[in-house]
Amino acid sequence: MRVAVLKGGRSLEREVSLRSAARVEDALNALGHEAIGIDVGRDLVDRLREERPDVVFIALHGPGGEDGTVQELLEILDLPYTGPGVAACALCMDKIAAKHEMRTAGIPTPDWAAFNATAFRELGAADTLEEIEARLGFPLVVKPASQGSSLGVEFAASRQEVPQALVAAFSYDERVLLERYVKGRELAVSVLDGEALPIVEAIPRQEDFFNFEARYEIGRTDYVCPAELAAEETARVQEIATRTYETLGCSGFARVDLMLGADEPQVLEVNAIPGLTDTSLFPMAAEAAGIDFTQLVERILASARQRPASEATLPA
Ligand SMILES: Nc1ncnc2c1ncn2[C@@H]1O[C@H](COP(=O)(O)OP(=O)(O)O)[C@@H](O)[C@H]1O
Ligand SMILES: [Mg+2]
Repeated sequence: MRVAVLKGGRSLEREVSLRSAARVEDALNALGHEAIGIDVGRDLVDRLREERPDVVFIALHGPGGEDGTVQELLEILDLPYTGPGVAACALCMDKIAAKHEMRTAGIPTPDWAAFNATAFRELGAADTLEEIEARLGFPLVVKPASQGSSLGVEFAASRQEVPQALVAAFSYDERVLLERYVKGRELAVSVLDGEALPIVEAIPRQEDFFNFEARYEIGRTDYVCPAELAAEETARVQEIATRTYETLGCSGFARVDLMLGADEPQVLEVNAIPGLTDTSLFPMAAEAAGIDFTQLVERILASARQRPASEATLPA
């Protein structure tokens, strides 16, 4: 098959995407497919028309690639693509909308309050901070509604630190959320075709665990897979993760991030197109399940979505 691999783009996660795509292209070629790398930009539609791929493998992260924009274009062009569809991508990229869906479905997610720049500027939303702080307690977490890789995720240990955390989060997005801090173990569940893979636990080396961005620098966090959890706990976390995947309408693959607090596991977010680099969690989880990277790419490719409209027009 001729497989176009979409990569790069203009998101802040461009570098991660290029690393994911390089591996994916190698795997596709090893599988006997023809990988056609496309660094997405203004000429994306032209390139796709010219190359006429059989399938599109989306290796983009962050806004633009992971939020349904590219998926929508591929549906218009009637090209099957990997990973979740337009609606699921849009939901996963919007942490506020995703949390509403989770709450409605009874999936545990930390309490939060959403805040947008307009409400802040024009409706006096800043005056509600006191109520929000009373409801969520300290420390609390402030994050942009749509970013990845911990960009703009800040914590505030006290009231004095909230304004600065908000300014930082607003520099990434017009909409931010303040979230109850969950003290506990950080887990990631990779879901392949609706099935949970072994859980990865991220363990920070130093106690500077409030600097979320620094934690992802190589060497500052250890990853353990499968996470050391009792069998019932593993099953519970995996069940919550697959239910979240289904609730948000994911297909193909996705990664669910959770915190395992004192009582229940709490879902933080779902990554519709998780990283596939050599240090990424999804390939690590697949490996632990006996699925090597090439096989993983083959599985993801096999699940490539057909455009729903063309399915609907298939003869009965
Ligand atoms: N409510 C929270 N309680 C504790 N830690 C959090 C909370 N929200 C985020 N974090 C930390 O910040 C990291 C990034 O947050 P997350 O919501 O997954 O956003 P993203 O990965 O999209 O940047 C998490 O992996 C976790 O370490
Ligand atoms: Mg995350």
